[in-house]
Amino acid sequence: MAVKQRAARGLTLTWLLSSLLLQTCRTCAEELTWDENGYVLYCPCMGRFGNQVDHFLGTLAFAKMLNRTMAVPPWIVYRHHTPPYTNVHVPYSEFFQLEALYAFHRVVSLEDFMEKLAPEYWPPGQRNAYCFETAAQRSVDKKSCPMKDGNPFGPFWDYVGVEFDKSVLFGGMSFNTYHQPQWMKKFPPAEHPVLAMPGAPAQFPVIEEHVSLQRYVVWSDKMVKEGEEHIAASLTRPYVGIHLRIGIDWQNACKMLKSGDAGPHFMASPQCVGYNHQTALPLTMPMCLPDLAEIRRAVKLWVKKTSASSIYIATDSESHSKDIEKLFKGKVKVVTLQPDSAQLDLYILGRADHFIGNCVSSFSAFVKRERDVHGLPSSFFGMDKPGKSNPREEL
Ligand SMILES: *[C@@H]1O[C@H](CO)[C@@H](O)[C@H](O)[C@H]1NC(C)=O
Repeated sequence: MAVKQRAARGLTLTWLLSSLLLQTCRTCAEELTWDENGYVLYCPCMGRFGNQVDHFLGTLAFAKMLNRTMAVPPWIVYRHHTPPYTNVHVPYSEFFQLEALYAFHRVVSLEDFMEKLAPEYWPPGQRNAYCFETAAQRSVDKKSCPMKDGNPFGPFWDYVGVEFDKSVLFGGMSFNTYHQPQWMKKFPPAEHPVLAMPGAPAQFPVIEEHVSLQRYVVWSDKMVKEGEEHIAASLTRPYVGIHLRIGIDWQNACKMLKSGDAGPHFMASPQCVGYNHQTALPLTMPMCLPDLAEIRRAVKLWVKKTSASSIYIATDSESHSKDIEKLFKGKVKVVTLQPDSAQLDLYILGRADHFIGNCVSSFSAFVKRERDVHGLPSSFFGMDKPGKSNPREEL
């Protein structure tokens, strides 16, 4: 009897153990299984982080539309003023949870794709590049995709470890849903398993229907810990977060607005003037490049409205922290970290009790989208109620 019982218990244990093993192996196998429906690869080669996220969201939607797994690329961080003075490729999961994307669509990190799948399923010799005919026009033979031409393209694919063997050109179709059937017909996954492109198959700025995909971009535990530590150490709630995009490159960009060379849709501005061209609100100079008077006005308004105890300033150049401190006669603490990592700024702005952003900036747009996901309030310089023009100041 005892023997039988022991045997039975042994059996249960064995069964438990093997099912546990099976379980783990099923999940690890899932990550490693080749997707017969194919992959989308691209280089986030346009702009800095804010722009890269816009493209990321659009590409996520594109991959889902074609039912291909998205190979999530690293972020390209430009470190031209601090060591190592070159581009740094930061895996997606450094800043965000890769797993959080599964709730929307199948993804694999580009690094895992290259290490675990590419050697067998996408070996050297079979690595096609896909691009618009118009992009290939610029090449010497007019038939090659400009995959590795210049910076950041070359360093990116070198980091990934890819040389391209052949170019496949296309034209007459865009990345939006209207052309989904053409994509499926032209590039069936059996013959074109990996669509690797020189840039994101997406628009900039992100289109309205993809804005809400921001909810799947969830900060990594490491970022949350770091961000929360900084907030606890230097800020007291409620705090107002502001993004000052006022550096010299931005001053030049906003000149286009002044001279009439840019309409209301200018970079990330649809987020505040509206996505519809016909009904877009005017984009004013204070919305693009707030001067010190506008910065003071908006900060004063929101500090008062939220009874803020502190203010966090993220800036691309000057912080104006002394001027802002003076506004409140030292009663409100003004903090600016100017951290090495833009992501820390983004995290802290995302958690503020109120956020004042720059309507034209995709960096601000990241914060605004994230706050919308969590139901947190935001405004813009020159526009206190998003989607509604400020009353005209009388001269
Ligand atoms: C999408 O791809 C997945 C994985 O390859 C597959 O299981 C699923 O059936 C596909 N869906 C459609 C609608 O083709």
